[in-house]
Amino acid sequence: MEAAVVALWRACGLVRPANDPHKDIRRKQRVNPEWFLVGELDDRVIATVMLPTKGHAAGFNYLAVEPALQRRGLGQAMLARAEELMRGVKCAKINLQVVTSNAAAIAFYESIGFAQDKVLSFGKRLEVD
Ligand SMILES: CC(C)(COP(=O)(O)OP(=O)(O)OC[C@H]1O[C@@H](n2cnc3c(N)ncnc32)[C@H](O)[C@@H]1OP(=O)(O)O)[C@@H](O)C(=O)NCCC(=O)NCCS
Repeated sequence: MEAAVVALWRACGLVRPANDPHKDIRRKQRVNPEWFLVGELDDRVIATVMLPTKGHAAGFNYLAVEPALQRRGLGQAMLARAEELMRGVKCAKINLQVVTSNAAAIAFYESIGFAQDKVLSFGKRLEVD
């Protein structure tokens, strides 16, 4: 399962040199692992989204849909389930980051009701992969 998940992420261009995807899966397994959603079709991993630690405002990572199955509503369905889980714990807002060159993802988020916040995004690595 883990190998199939990472293969999907690679096919979707989500694996970056600074992030070891296997370590990210381990990190998720330590804290609310049930918030790592994996969609399967005929025993194949076709979609994922990794939700954060429960909190009042939260983002998500590794939203991916198998390239051959994109534009069929699967991404929207994964985020609908994510939203339901977050509402269930009274999470008030979803924050997420998209690399500015990812035009498809930007169009996707805009089409399902996300709007750009007027903020600068900062990050600080606490672990180096
Ligand atoms: C972003 C992603 C998850 C969207 O998943 P998807 O299953 O293709 O999306 P949906 O079919 O639910 O799309 C819903 C709507 O979003 C918009 N949309 C989705 N992909 C789009 C694209 N490539 N270009 C323009 N609009 C797009 C459309 O309005 C679409 O509705 P429509 O197909 O009826 O026109 C998918 O493209 C993906 O896995 N991309 C690679 C990984 C990635 O970039 N993840 C996000 C990182 S922040």
